[in-house]
Amino acid sequence: MPHDTRDLNSDRRDIADLDEIWLFGYGSLIYKVDFPYVDCATAYLDGWQRRFWQGSHDHRGTPEAPGRVLTLIEAPAKRCFGKAYRVTLNEFDHLDHREKNGYVRQLAPLQLADGRQRTGVFYVGLTNSPAHLGEASERAIAEQIFRSEGPSGSNRDYLHQLQDALAAHGEVDDHVMAIDRLVRQLAGDD
Ligand code: BEZ
Repeated sequence: MPHDTRDLNSDRRDIADLDEIWLFGYGSLIYKVDFPYVDCATAYLDGWQRRFWQGSHDHRGTPEAPGRVLTLIEAPAKRCFGKAYRVTLNEFDHLDHREKNGYVRQLAPLQLADGRQRTGVFYVGLTNSPAHLGEASERAIAEQIFRSEGPSGSNRDYLHQLQDALAAHGEVDDHVMAIDRLVRQLAGDD
Protein backbone atom coordinates (compact mmCIF):
# COMPACT_ATOMS: atom_id res chain seq x y z
CA MET A 1 0.00 0.00 0.00
CA PRO A 2 1.46 3.43 -0.94
CA HIS A 3 2.10 6.07 1.71
CA ASP A 4 0.42 8.69 -0.45
CA THR A 5 -3.27 8.81 0.45
CA ARG A 6 -4.38 11.59 -1.90
CA ASP A 7 -6.26 9.15 -4.14
CA LEU A 8 -8.07 7.68 -1.14
CA ASN A 9 -9.10 11.19 -0.05
CA SER A 10 -10.10 12.41 -3.52
CA ASP A 11 -13.77 11.41 -3.17
CA ARG A 12 -15.13 14.34 -1.14
CA ARG A 13 -18.84 13.48 -1.25
CA ASP A 14 -18.80 12.74 2.51
CA ILE A 15 -17.79 16.28 3.42
CA ALA A 16 -19.56 17.95 0.47
CA ASP A 17 -22.88 16.77 1.94
CA LEU A 18 -22.31 18.42 5.32
CA ASP A 19 -24.19 21.68 6.12
CA GLU A 20 -21.04 23.00 7.80
CA ILE A 21 -17.53 21.54 7.44
CA TRP A 22 -15.66 21.63 10.77
CA LEU A 23 -12.06 20.47 10.49
CA PHE A 24 -10.76 19.17 13.83
CA GLY A 25 -7.05 19.75 14.50
CA TYR A 26 -5.35 17.81 17.27
CA GLY A 27 -1.69 18.20 16.26
CA SER A 28 0.06 20.79 14.15
CA LEU A 29 -3.34 22.08 13.05
CA ILE A 30 -3.68 23.54 16.55
CA TYR A 31 -0.79 25.94 15.97
CA LYS A 32 -0.06 25.92 12.23
CA VAL A 33 -3.08 27.25 10.41
CA ASP A 34 -2.06 27.83 6.80
CA PHE A 35 -5.55 27.93 5.30
CA PRO A 36 -8.49 30.34 5.45
CA TYR A 37 -11.43 29.58 7.71
CA VAL A 38 -14.77 31.22 8.49
CA ASP A 39 -15.03 30.30 12.18
CA CYS A 40 -12.84 28.69 14.80
CA ALA A 41 -13.59 27.10 18.19
CA THR A 42 -12.03 25.02 20.93
CA ALA A 43 -13.38 21.49 20.48
CA TYR A 44 -13.36 17.98 21.92
CA LEU A 45 -13.51 14.62 20.21
CA ASP A 46 -14.78 11.84 22.44
CA GLY A 47 -13.38 8.32 22.20
CA TRP A 48 -9.98 9.17 20.72
CA GLN A 49 -6.47 9.93 22.00
CA ARG A 50 -3.28 11.38 20.51
CA ARG A 51 -0.33 9.06 19.91
CA PHE A 52 3.06 9.58 18.23
CA TRP A 53 2.61 6.42 16.20
CA GLN A 54 2.65 7.88 12.68
CA GLY A 55 5.84 8.11 10.66
CA SER A 56 6.81 11.38 9.01
CA HIS A 57 8.77 10.60 5.86
CA ASP A 58 7.96 13.94 4.23
CA HIS A 59 7.79 16.74 6.84
CA ARG A 60 9.72 15.94 10.06
CA GLY A 61 11.88 13.11 8.77
CA THR A 62 12.95 11.51 5.51
CA PRO A 63 12.12 8.23 3.76
CA GLU A 64 15.41 6.81 5.11
CA ALA A 65 15.01 8.19 8.63
CA PRO A 66 11.35 8.96 9.36
CA GLY A 67 10.31 11.11 12.26
CA ARG A 68 7.28 10.49 14.44
CA VAL A 69 4.15 12.60 14.37
CA LEU A 70 0.64 12.30 15.72
CA THR A 71 -2.27 10.16 14.81
CA LEU A 72 -5.47 9.46 16.70
CA ILE A 73 -6.19 6.07 18.23
CA GLU A 74 -9.66 5.00 19.36
CA ALA A 75 -9.89 5.00 23.17
CA PRO A 76 -13.49 4.74 24.42
CA ALA A 77 -13.09 6.58 27.75
CA LYS A 78 -10.84 9.37 26.47
CA ARG A 79 -11.56 12.87 25.20
CA CYS A 80 -9.18 14.64 22.84
CA PHE A 81 -8.85 18.43 23.01
CA GLY A 82 -8.26 20.33 19.80
CA LYS A 83 -9.19 23.29 17.65
CA ALA A 84 -11.99 23.19 15.12
CA TYR A 85 -12.06 25.35 12.00
CA ARG A 86 -15.12 25.89 9.87
CA VAL A 87 -13.76 25.67 6.33
CA THR A 88 -15.05 25.33 2.79
CA LEU A 89 -14.56 22.37 0.49
CA ASN A 90 -11.95 24.43 -1.40
CA GLU A 91 -9.42 23.96 1.40
CA PHE A 92 -9.14 20.19 0.98
CA ASP A 93 -6.79 20.15 -2.02
CA HIS A 94 -4.23 21.85 0.19
CA LEU A 95 -5.05 19.85 3.35
CA ASP A 96 -5.09 16.45 1.62
CA HIS A 97 -1.70 17.31 0.11
CA ARG A 98 -0.25 18.47 3.44
CA GLU A 99 -1.48 15.29 5.21
CA LYS A 100 -0.88 12.82 2.39
CA ASN A 101 1.58 10.55 4.23
CA GLY A 102 -0.79 7.76 5.22
CA TYR A 103 -3.68 9.85 6.58
CA VAL A 104 -7.33 9.51 5.60
CA ARG A 105 -10.22 11.77 6.53
CA GLN A 106 -12.73 10.52 9.03
CA LEU A 107 -16.00 11.96 10.36
CA ALA A 108 -17.33 11.79 13.94
CA PRO A 109 -19.43 13.89 16.34
CA LEU A 110 -17.54 16.89 17.68
CA GLN A 111 -18.31 18.92 20.81
CA LEU A 112 -17.53 22.62 20.46
CA ALA A 113 -16.62 24.36 23.73
CA ASP A 114 -19.61 26.72 23.45
CA GLY A 115 -21.99 23.73 23.59
CA ARG A 116 -22.65 23.30 19.88
CA GLN A 117 -22.38 19.78 18.48
CA ARG A 118 -21.23 19.39 14.90
CA THR A 119 -19.79 16.71 12.67
CA GLY A 120 -16.01 16.89 12.88
CA VAL A 121 -13.68 16.05 9.99
CA PHE A 122 -10.22 14.89 11.01
CA TYR A 123 -7.21 13.05 9.64
CA VAL A 124 -6.26 9.65 11.03
CA GLY A 125 -3.27 7.50 10.03
CA LEU A 126 -4.22 4.23 8.35
CA THR A 127 -2.87 1.47 10.56
CA ASN A 128 -2.15 -0.76 7.53
CA SER A 129 -0.03 1.89 5.82
CA PRO A 130 3.79 1.75 5.83
CA ALA A 131 3.58 5.26 7.28
CA HIS A 132 2.09 3.82 10.47
CA LEU A 133 5.02 3.03 12.79
CA GLY A 134 2.84 1.87 15.66
CA GLU A 135 3.31 1.67 19.39
CA ALA A 136 6.71 2.06 21.03
CA SER A 137 7.88 3.08 24.49
CA GLU A 138 7.82 6.81 25.23
CA ARG A 139 11.62 6.68 25.56
CA ALA A 140 12.05 5.08 22.11
CA ILE A 141 9.66 7.64 20.62
CA ALA A 142 11.57 10.48 22.30
CA GLU A 143 14.89 9.19 20.96
CA GLN A 144 13.50 8.98 17.42
CA ILE A 145 12.02 12.48 17.64
CA PHE A 146 15.26 13.85 19.10
CA ARG A 147 17.32 12.76 16.09
CA SER A 148 14.78 13.36 13.27
CA GLU A 149 14.65 16.22 10.86
CA GLY A 150 12.92 16.77 7.51
CA PRO A 151 11.96 19.40 4.94
CA SER A 152 9.51 21.08 7.37
CA GLY A 153 12.08 21.29 10.16
CA SER A 154 13.09 19.32 13.19
CA ASN A 155 10.83 16.74 14.76
CA ARG A 156 11.71 18.32 18.13
CA ASP A 157 10.17 21.64 17.08
CA TYR A 158 6.96 19.86 16.05
CA LEU A 159 6.78 18.26 19.50
CA HIS A 160 7.69 21.35 21.52
CA GLN A 161 5.33 23.60 19.54
CA LEU A 162 2.53 21.15 20.21
CA GLN A 163 3.31 20.90 23.93
CA ASP A 164 3.50 24.72 24.17
CA ALA A 165 0.19 25.10 22.32
CA LEU A 166 -1.52 22.59 24.63
CA ALA A 167 -0.08 24.31 27.71
CA ALA A 168 -1.26 27.70 26.42
CA HIS A 169 -4.79 26.28 26.41
CA GLY A 170 -4.34 24.81 29.89
CA GLU A 171 -4.46 21.30 28.48
CA VAL A 172 -2.38 18.37 29.74
CA ASP A 173 -1.82 15.37 27.48
CA ASP A 174 0.24 12.84 29.47
CA HIS A 175 1.69 11.15 26.37
CA VAL A 176 2.81 14.42 24.76
CA MET A 177 4.10 15.88 28.03
CA ALA A 178 6.14 12.77 28.91
CA ILE A 179 7.81 12.67 25.48
CA ASP A 180 8.40 16.44 25.53
CA ARG A 181 10.23 16.08 28.88
CA LEU A 182 12.32 13.14 27.65
CA VAL A 183 13.37 15.01 24.50
CA ARG A 184 14.32 18.09 26.56
CA GLN A 185 16.43 15.81 28.79
CA LEU A 186 18.16 14.31 25.75
CA ALA A 187 18.91 17.85 24.55
CA GLY A 188 20.33 18.73 27.97
CA ASP A 189 17.65 21.39 28.51
CA ASP A 190 16.43 19.93 31.81
C1 BEZ B 1 -3.80 17.68 13.11
O1 BEZ B 1 -3.05 18.53 13.46
O2 BEZ B 1 -4.93 17.67 13.51
C2 BEZ B 1 -3.41 16.64 12.18
C3 BEZ B 1 -2.69 15.59 12.66
C4 BEZ B 1 -2.33 14.60 11.80
C5 BEZ B 1 -2.67 14.68 10.46
C6 BEZ B 1 -3.40 15.73 10.03
C7 BEZ B 1 -3.77 16.72 10.88
